[in-house]
Order: sequence, then structure tokens, then C-alpha cells
Amino acid sequence: MYVCNCNGIREREARAAIAAGAGKPAQIFIRCGAKPQCAKCVCDMRRLIRESEDSLRYAAE
Ligand code: FES
Repeated sequence: MYVCNCNGIREREARAAIAAGAGKPAQIFIRCGAKPQCAKCVCDMRRLIRESEDSLRYAAE
């Protein structure tokens, strides 16, 4: 499943970028070697970042 259709960034690639330290959508683009175009995917990227942060928070509790 693609998170970013403009750049062909798949969800697993975005999740890998987040796991590698990307904390903002702009950093996901950089780590995937892409640049934002229409930016419709930014909300989905933020959701993935939030989910990752939440899972780390739960794991720490
Ligand atoms: S869908 Fe990601 S920049 Fe357009």
C-alpha cells in the first residue's frame, strides 16, 4: 500500500524511515530520497509517526 502516490513511497518504507529516526514527514521524504509534491500524504505520514510514538510509549509503560 502506498502512503505517497506521487513518489511511490510504500507504507513499509515510511515505517522504516520512522524507525530509523524520521520524526517529521519532511524527514521521511528525505530518507526515501523524495520530495513533497502535492503533500496529500502528509496527514498519513503524521499518523504513522504518531502510531510509532504511541507504541513506544506503551512499550515503556
Ligand atoms: S501523495 Fe505524497 S506528495 Fe503527493
